[in-house]
Amino acid sequence: MINTVEESQKVAVSHLEDVWLFGYGSLIFKVDFPVLEQRQAAIRGWERRFWQGSHDHRGTPESPGRVVTLVESADAICEGMAFRVSPETFSHLDHREKNGYIRRFEPLIFKDEEHEPAEAIVYFASPQNAAFLGDAPLEEMAEQIATSIGPSGRNSDYLLQLDAALKALLINDEHVSQLAQRVRLMVAEGVY
Ligand code: BEZ
Repeated sequence: MINTVEESQKVAVSHLEDVWLFGYGSLIFKVDFPVLEQRQAAIRGWERRFWQGSHDHRGTPESPGRVVTLVESADAICEGMAFRVSPETFSHLDHREKNGYIRRFEPLIFKDEEHEPAEAIVYFASPQNAAFLGDAPLEEMAEQIATSIGPSGRNSDYLLQLDAALKALLINDEHVSQLAQRVRLMVAEGVY
């Protein structure tokens, strides 16, 4: 059963005039919501990992794909894009990011340090959610991504689009770039 973000797990935003949203995955390369302002930013203590199963977008319940979530890691910094949005945007995003994601506020670090610190809503899927897959050997994750496809398209396109978007922002993420390199080779070799 695939649920939208549970009412009880939503951080309230409706009383706010506008809200910062931190994107570290598909929000970076698929901006299908109105944006008031955007800035490159990061959050501390989290790593981007292809550890969340996707039954609804990049795979199926029988053959889930892998998409990103955030995993706690004390010294890590996860770089991405912050979007200032109106609170109404979250009804669209809660539906788009169903299947295990919940929202929380995290302190934002803007790349351009002249800006005042702020807090942002971040979607993440915890290890307790039913679709969580966790870590696996690189080759196994690459193979799963190379072979999975769902209603939103190929899992490999999600990975390669994210890799390209991070590179365009000069963000170095070895987990993403190593997976992308492996999947590109698998596709080029005609294995999948
Ligand atoms: C993001 O791009 O921030 C994102 C990733 C996974 C789920 C929801 C949002």
